[in-house]
Amino acid sequence: MAMLEIHDLTMKFGSLVANDSVSFSVEKGQIVGLIGPNGAGKTTLFNCVSGFFPPTEGKIFFNGEDVTGLPAHVIARKGAVRTFQVVHPLSEMPVLDNVLVGAFLREKDINKAHELAWECLRDCRLEDLAHRLAGDLTIGQKKRLEVARSLATSPLLLMLDEAMAGLTTTEVKESVELVSRLKDRGLTLLIVEHIMEAIMPIADKVVVLEGGIKIAEGPPRDIINDERVIKAYFGEKYSRRLKESGQAKRYE
Ligand SMILES: Nc1ncnc2c1ncn2[C@@H]1O[C@H](COP(=O)(O)OP(=O)(O)OP(=O)(O)O)[C@@H](O)[C@H]1O
Ligand SMILES: [Mg+2]
Repeated sequence: MAMLEIHDLTMKFGSLVANDSVSFSVEKGQIVGLIGPNGAGKTTLFNCVSGFFPPTEGKIFFNGEDVTGLPAHVIARKGAVRTFQVVHPLSEMPVLDNVLVGAFLREKDINKAHELAWECLRDCRLEDLAHRLAGDLTIGQKKRLEVARSLATSPLLLMLDEAMAGLTTTEVKESVELVSRLKDRGLTLLIVEHIMEAIMPIADKVVVLEGGIKIAEGPPRDIINDERVIKAYFGEKYSRRLKESGQAKRYE
């Protein structure tokens, strides 16, 4: 049974079709990358799956259960949790408390919630900043806080919406390592990312959207050679660079 199944998902905003009959699934324990140009409909798909909008049409099954149209807090409690592309931490609260908010979704015991929050802070290398106000963090640190808060809810499926954008090269490398560790612990991940060097080496499968339509789906090595994806998203130059950088070898 797949962790997430999306069947013919369509999301319209008036006459604009942001997702047009998109179908794909995410198997348990997989890392699936969701890529595509700006405005392709990636965040909209996250919004539908995580319950922020009910889709116009289509069905979403999470862990075998039809969750189409359920509100976000119900879907989060079932274990499908997403981060936001535009981060908005509780700025007037310390970093630790922001993560505790996540932990309290499932953990009612205050000591256990603290333990869990500290574990997530360590995972996201934020333990030294635990007592800082979240509003004082750099953008990269806020992005990591967003991941820590989501992790603290003990999700089954974690959906990251450009969690690596704005991070330094070292931070990106550390995030990739964290994602790989999370996969090793059995977490399933759906990741929207524009940094191909980060997502391609770790994804089991990549889904490509363009103009709301799924234009390709497959293992990374097929996606980087897919003519339609090269045309819509990578461009010839970038595609060549990806292959020459040795990334391509790592997919084979
Ligand atoms: N709440 C909304 N109301 C109206 N239109 C929206 C809304 N959310 C998204 N859209 C439109 O839907 C389309 C898809 O946007 P979306 O944010 O899903 O793209 P994206 O793939 O996440 O892009 P990016 O890579 O820039 O984050 C865009 O044309 C956008 O303007
Ligand atoms: Mg987006």
